[in-house]
Amino acid sequence: MLNHGSINRRRLLRVGGGSLVAATIPTTWAIAQAKPVKVGLMLPYSGTFAQLGENITHAVEMLIAEKGGTLGGRPVQFVRLDDESKPEAGPQNAERLVKKDNVDVLIGTVHSGVQMGIHKVVRESGTLTIIPNAGNNDVTRSLCARNVFRTSFTNWQPAYGMGVALAKKGAKRAAFITWDYAAGQESGAAFKEGFEKGGGTFVRMLTLNFPETNFQPLLAQVPGLDVDAVGAFFAGGGAVQFVKEYAAAQLKPALCGAGFLTEGTLPAQGKAAEGIETALHYGDSLTGAKNEAFMKAFRAKAGRDADVYAVQGYDAAQLLAVGLDAVKGDLDNEAGLYKAMRGAKLESPRGPISFSDSQNVIQNIYLRRVENGLNKVVGVAVEALADPGTGCKM
Ligand code: PHB
Repeated sequence: MLNHGSINRRRLLRVGGGSLVAATIPTTWAIAQAKPVKVGLMLPYSGTFAQLGENITHAVEMLIAEKGGTLGGRPVQFVRLDDESKPEAGPQNAERLVKKDNVDVLIGTVHSGVQMGIHKVVRESGTLTIIPNAGNNDVTRSLCARNVFRTSFTNWQPAYGMGVALAKKGAKRAAFITWDYAAGQESGAAFKEGFEKGGGTFVRMLTLNFPETNFQPLLAQVPGLDVDAVGAFFAGGGAVQFVKEYAAAQLKPALCGAGFLTEGTLPAQGKAAEGIETALHYGDSLTGAKNEAFMKAFRAKAGRDADVYAVQGYDAAQLLAVGLDAVKGDLDNEAGLYKAMRGAKLESPRGPISFSDSQNVIQNIYLRRVENGLNKVVGVAVEALADPGTGCKM
């Protein structure tokens, strides 16, 4: 198919007997006429992950505004869908975007279970999909697909980093508390793997259903476990409440976890979060001109501080821009599009990033400690960590 950026103009520039004059330099007029790229944003805008979806959206819009509102010469049109973090509605919601709204690109989502629904649909339709958060390992392992990229993490990456760092600190016994769904289970398994690799003993995994918050029966079991540390995976509103209740229970084992536990949540957690150590691919004290400009622009747009979700959303849009620029807006040039995206080197607010063969981010996992309401970076848990991508064949 021809480049949408110039096709309308070509149609009009007929000379003599109706032959075509190829106008390959897109003028302002041609850009205005170019067919918009329809981008579906399938994200949670309600429920425990609502703020995560909002921050991703703000950051996607921010990058596109920085690019003058066009990608690859085409204006961008958004179709938003609130997936409510409901896995059972995932396939139907994704189908609505792909088949009814005919989106060219799908950016989504946050919840690993919902991601499975999206994945089922886009693996079949071939729709270009960029995951701005959900970490379920399989979508960039055994179920990997050429048209699916991830600018966030696998659930394995930050939790494995935390397990490694905890063992290095000398902890001997640890447990894990989380929601019983893909992200919680995979984070717990990765934390155990990292901790055991460093010589620690993993004692128990305690779970409750997503998105429940009746933490008390689980917290009541902690003193009986005889552990030095408790790891956790919670995020959004659930993380706010868990951290507050853990502090109120005055338990002896130190609380730690995948960094989502204290990410974007510190203003609401207040003193309860002070001193908690977590591992993540971003932190408040990372320096660098890119991050500083990003944080400032995000605050101006969203009215609150940037967090890892905003970074991942911004990078989803950056990656899309690389792809669309490479093919000059022609999404039918799949070979050119995927080649450019797989080879992309992005200047992310988290630092420079690249992509593994299974199209997931290779990145540093930082150790952070909450100090004065900030996730201060205190070390690198694992440098340039790539998910193993086990079983991915493209
Ligand atoms: C997930 O479900 O994969 C998930 C949700 C929220 C996070 C991280 C991972 O903060």
